Amino acid sequence: MMAEMDPSSLVARDLRVLWHPCTQMQDHERHPPVPIRRGHGIWLEDFEGRRYLDGISSWWVNLFGHANPRINAAVARQLGELEHVLLAGFTHEPVVTLSERLIHIAPPGLTRCFYAESGAAAVEIALKMSLHYWRNTGKPEKTQFVSLAHAYHGDTLGALALSDIGLYRAPYEALLPSWPKSPSPAIDDSGDDPLRQAERAADGLERVLELNADRVCGVVVEPLVQCAGGMRMHSPRYLSRVREACSRHGVHMIVDEIAVGFGRTGTMFGCEQGSITPDLLCVGKGLTGGYLPLSACLATDAVYEAFYGGGPERAFLHSHSYTGNPLACAAAMATLSIFEEDDVLARNRMLAEHLARRLAPLRDHPHVANVRQTGLIAALDLVPDKNSGEHYPAHERRGRRACERAFTRGVLLRPLGDVLYLMPPYIATPADIDQLVDALADSADYATADG
Ligand SMILES: Cc1ncc(COP(=O)(O)O)c(C=O)c1O
Repeated sequence: MMAEMDPSSLVARDLRVLWHPCTQMQDHERHPPVPIRRGHGIWLEDFEGRRYLDGISSWWVNLFGHANPRINAAVARQLGELEHVLLAGFTHEPVVTLSERLIHIAPPGLTRCFYAESGAAAVEIALKMSLHYWRNTGKPEKTQFVSLAHAYHGDTLGALALSDIGLYRAPYEALLPSWPKSPSPAIDDSGDDPLRQAERAADGLERVLELNADRVCGVVVEPLVQCAGGMRMHSPRYLSRVREACSRHGVHMIVDEIAVGFGRTGTMFGCEQGSITPDLLCVGKGLTGGYLPLSACLATDAVYEAFYGGGPERAFLHSHSYTGNPLACAAAMATLSIFEEDDVLARNRMLAEHLARRLAPLRDHPHVANVRQTGLIAALDLVPDKNSGEHYPAHERRGRRACERAFTRGVLLRPLGDVLYLMPPYIATPADIDQLVDALADSADYATADG
């Protein structure tokens, strides 16, 4: 029988040996990490039996709940067959079938899957593929990438070079190439028309490409929502304009669906809403339903053909030990099966309508600005005074205080500065959504009570 775990000794041991991500470790003196014993459905449970509603899908990965019986069974079945084999020179059923299924649901024209283990690694692959494509097709002078203001594409060096979040970049700036940036298409609270905002940002991209296209391999965009950059949302019109501009200027369009792919925005992929096919498409996070690290970069025939034949230096030179891991592929296929069996997209749209109705009253909150929603992502800004357009100074940020409050009420949220957001698992019920929005409203009250 397993010995009963003492959670406080677990935390003490953790603090002796772990280094947690995106964490000032000294803060753990006041706020130690929360030991989680088990997950079930939308709930996480600690060792005292307290339950926390996972309002952010455990960093946007968990689509169908913790300990999902169908995903559990698929991974267990695969464990009995093959846990792993290298993918260079070998193949296996889960990776072939998953690739067929991904190509089937992806925007038409994407015909090849290349696998990685994290979102950032999928972005690195897209950058390397695009650069190497231009080299193989006689344009070695193309070595740069355009990304957007407020973009976030991951924390490895290439992905970080695309990102525009000062906090994450600044200490590592010396390692990052300096590439052109294009304006964000995000809609703000100014009441400006989203379409006009999209057109303005696309005009900005046109200017960047007019000046730089000869040196640029591709433009990288997060479709519909720039997530880590503050849940900044934009019109699908922007995506169709980017597609036109990229084709006209002879650069790749690289779409990063890592955060929003797999139904989060109401369609399987965000870029479907712009009716476009990118040259390269990155997926990750929800691909395995939040179970195992797996990501992929999907490419068009045109990209693939540029690598086909002609010696090893023309082949795509990237690998990692666990490429196409069978267990992760099995989890991903079980996730895709749930989409098919349960008509998830239709249910998500219904849930999103419920969320919109419940969010509406927050628009009148004196310390809440820019209430916004795309599918099952909802966000708002905490502000000192909604009419002044000002923000809290950095040392007075309220987001963290708000999330600490929500946690005491059994709801797991994480701030992005003073942006609070919800990104619930798709299995949330309307009652779960009510609880999340109530916690959001209460946390906003609490964190801004002194102005
Ligand atoms: C749009 C986007 N791209 C890439 C990444 C990096 O993914 P990972 O954390 O799996 O490396 C993230 C992570 O939040 C993301 O939101």
